[in-house]
Amino acid sequence: MSQRSSAAASARPRIQQYLPVTRVGQTVPMPKPPTFVMRQLRKPYVDYALCLLLKRRRMALQPLDPTALWPEFETAEVTVGILPKGDWSAPTNDTLVLMKLAAAARPRRILELGSYRGYSGKAMLENAPDDATLTAVDIDPQHGEAYRDTALADRVDRRVGPIGLEIFTPDEIGSFDLVFVDADHSRAAASHDTEIALRMVSEHGTVLWHDYANWGYFTGDCGVPEVLNDLATRLPVGHLIGSNIAIHRPSWARDRTEFDDAVRATNDELRLGHWNSGTARRYA
Ligand SMILES: C[S@@+](CC[C@H](N)C(=O)[O-])C[C@H]1O[C@@H](n2cnc3c(N)ncnc32)[C@H](O)[C@@H]1O
Repeated sequence: MSQRSSAAASARPRIQQYLPVTRVGQTVPMPKPPTFVMRQLRKPYVDYALCLLLKRRRMALQPLDPTALWPEFETAEVTVGILPKGDWSAPTNDTLVLMKLAAAARPRRILELGSYRGYSGKAMLENAPDDATLTAVDIDPQHGEAYRDTALADRVDRRVGPIGLEIFTPDEIGSFDLVFVDADHSRAAASHDTEIALRMVSEHGTVLWHDYANWGYFTGDCGVPEVLNDLATRLPVGHLIGSNIAIHRPSWARDRTEFDDAVRATNDELRLGHWNSGTARRYA
């Protein structure tokens, strides 16, 4: 080995200390940079630029096409009402995915952790079966303006308080068919809320996480990818393509066939491209 390459090899572990990201199956702890550096990293545009460098390591979940999981996803008709954009509301494409999923998966009991104005909850409930209910949890006493004073309000169980098992005292463990996690996205909170979601989802249910997205690593505002990369070392977790939504189904922990088949179909689709894959051939 030349002097230069041996110097590079010995420098590598030190460089890796500054790539403090998690990948599926691997966690690299982050040393705390000096305060001056931290202040710069917390600026959203600096965070955004630096996160781009981490993208391949950070966004490590298996991509999943929702049609590979629910064939009805494609054909399910949905009702699209008011969809406000902006601070904290789920973007339109993600809300559309939630609507389609509610229509295709037909959940009877939906749980939203972090409801805010209630538009994402309303979008799911409007497209679920007529007898479905939504349990909407938020620490903000005002949450739920989207369905307040509408006919839908009767089907919403609005709960105010911090996410924790205490707020689910009236419910059986494992009694929700669809759980949408969208509250505080810091790593500690996302990890805590994930444990609650996994307790509250039913055996045949589905957990969805919002903001499985490549921002907020350096600001500390979004630790969802890190939490889910860690979770994926224990359980099958995927990323719904074309959205910022990640997905897990407890049934995959017992039998991975559905997950593995969907991963294979999705990878074919991504490798062959839309026109050459099964999707296009089905309509030929
Ligand atoms: C991103 S917003 C939810 C957006 C909503 N799902 C939507 O798409 O319209 C996050 C919400 O989580 C709530 N929240 C944050 N931490 C919480 C906690 N520990 N317990 C309950 N709610 C919390 C906030 O009050 C806020 O309304």
